[in-house]
Amino acid sequence: MKKFLITLLMALAPMTASAAGGAGVPLDKIDIDLNNQASLQRGMQTFVNRCMGCHEAGYQRFERSAQDLGMPNELVEQYLIFDPERKIGDHMKIAMAKTDAAGWFGAPPPDLTLETRLRGSDWVYTYLRSFYADENRPWGVNNAVFPDVGMPNVLEDLQGKVVNHCSPAELAHGGNDEIDPLTGKKMGGCLTVSEAGSQSAEEFDRTIYDLVNFMTYMGEPSRMESERIGFKVLIFLAILFVFAFALKKEYWKDVH
Ligand code: HEC
Repeated sequence: MKKFLITLLMALAPMTASAAGGAGVPLDKIDIDLNNQASLQRGMQTFVNRCMGCHEAGYQRFERSAQDLGMPNELVEQYLIFDPERKIGDHMKIAMAKTDAAGWFGAPPPDLTLETRLRGSDWVYTYLRSFYADENRPWGVNNAVFPDVGMPNVLEDLQGKVVNHCSPAELAHGGNDEIDPLTGKKMGGCLTVSEAGSQSAEEFDRTIYDLVNFMTYMGEPSRMESERIGFKVLIFLAILFVFAFALKKEYWKDVH
């Protein structure tokens, strides 16, 4: 029964996710590349440095990431595990108590191991690039795809300060459709950087790309392996086809 309920919940998860995903905001597409090890490694670096202060990835072990991403265990221990109590074989957990965090942020920072499966990689990619300044919020920021979010914009030093110049209704639909009289093009997006951060817009997109690439890997660590095996299976089938076809010709050649 329990198993059945869990399966049912997992089947329904994508529905609840899109319902909560700030309906209407068009999501930016991310083209995941699990074969890009350098990107995945940079993503993991950002994740442990910038996200694991608050979030855990409690279903993933450091060691598994190290193996899959082609990083030696010693380097991971030295540079990516900050808590001296934790070992390479441990889950990627943190010390912050959930109840404390709920008090500080209004909501506890959820475990992110399966976040891209829950919300979709496009959503996470868009979310992390959709914070904007809003003085009415406790942390001075709001988010276009997650209205009234409890998370501060932890990457503001990289991205810079972002301002929104749309009405709430326009923001909820991803921008205004007004035509720029000078260029004749749609003016589009609502969010622009008003004070530059340490990265340019392209660099920041790249940072988030790598981060979400890593998070997507983490949500489905065996997908990397499946893709590799799947490719080999296709090659095998292609070769098998040649022989099967030759055999078929051989069998049928006298039938006509
Ligand atoms: C200072 C603490 C803090 C840090 C650091 C932080 N977050 Fe969060 N994050 C939160 C809190 C709190 C929430 C819950 C917000 C809510 O429900 O209103 C959250 C929510 C989220 C969500 C949405 C979860 C959901 O589906 O409801 C995502 C995705 C996320 N964080 C990703 C990240 C990533 C990626 C990083 C690293 C770049 C990061 N966070 C760093 C505090 C933090």
